[in-house]
Amino acid sequence: MWSGFPLFPEQASTVAGRVDALYIFLVAITVFFSLLIAALVLGFAIRFRRRSEDERPPAIHGSLALELTWTLIPLGIVLLTFIWSAELYVSMARVPRGAMEIGVVGKRWMWKLQHMTGQREINELHVPVGIPVKLTLTSEDVIHSFYIPAFRVKKDAVPGRYSTAWFEATKPGRYHLFCAEYCGTKHSGMIGTIVVLEPAQFQAWLSGGATGLSLASAGEKLFQELSCVTCHRSDSGARGPNLVGLFGSSVKLMSGETAFADEGYIRESIATPSAKIVEGYQPIMPTYQGLVSEEQLLQLVAYIQTLPGQDGKAAPLPGAPATTAPDAAKQ
Ligand code: CUA
Repeated sequence: MWSGFPLFPEQASTVAGRVDALYIFLVAITVFFSLLIAALVLGFAIRFRRRSEDERPPAIHGSLALELTWTLIPLGIVLLTFIWSAELYVSMARVPRGAMEIGVVGKRWMWKLQHMTGQREINELHVPVGIPVKLTLTSEDVIHSFYIPAFRVKKDAVPGRYSTAWFEATKPGRYHLFCAEYCGTKHSGMIGTIVVLEPAQFQAWLSGGATGLSLASAGEKLFQELSCVTCHRSDSGARGPNLVGLFGSSVKLMSGETAFADEGYIRESIATPSAKIVEGYQPIMPTYQGLVSEEQLLQLVAYIQTLPGQDGKAAPLPGAPATTAPDAAKQ
């Protein structure tokens, strides 16, 4: 509805219209009360001005009706704003099930993107229209912020941890991608394009590129190469916790606390293993900080996600090729 109005970028995601509606509501409320207060200040200044040197204003002892009015109306407005924005925030924070997953690594000064199926892109991301896309973001150096104005999506990429965001594009086209957090001299050049394709075109794009290993298969290969497998075995003599069925489960820690095994937990357990020790194990695992890149960490996390859960079924990886693809995923 705002096309042709240059202050607003195009609305090209499922949340764009909802974000704009809240924004316009806030602007309208602000403008209304600014004008009302300015007009009243001016009007009262004229109407109740001092008319003679010896004029004494009458004593006023308050008005309950007036005070209730100027308390309850603003209370109603801020509560409405709170409920409206909280509901929107929650739906933007909660990733829909079955979303296509993309790994995002910010680096001065580029965006590196990995599809679960192995395709890698720099400063460009191809996604299908009408399918939710989950972004797992991190940074190898400083804080960056992944910003797609047309989707009304902005999320910080923070070194040392994962943040998530999601969007569902509603219109095919090319959209701006910006870094929205000052990150050094070429911050303004840290830009890119989101290419939204029709599902059939997207499949063609997926199969067109030389892909190499899927993210999970690359992670599995790393798991062997780094000898993770020598400790993380499924037999009883293993020195490290068994990782089968780990993802999405609750983990008992030595400290007596419980941790939830999500992407962030797995990343932390690889980068700083001493942060959370699993109950019944010794803190013998060395840190892999600096030995594996952020992209490799994403691969390992993707691999651990595919290890079958208690029901014996692996987490579904849409479109992942077989594990024996030719090795084209050299770092
Ligand atoms: Cu990256 Cu600004």
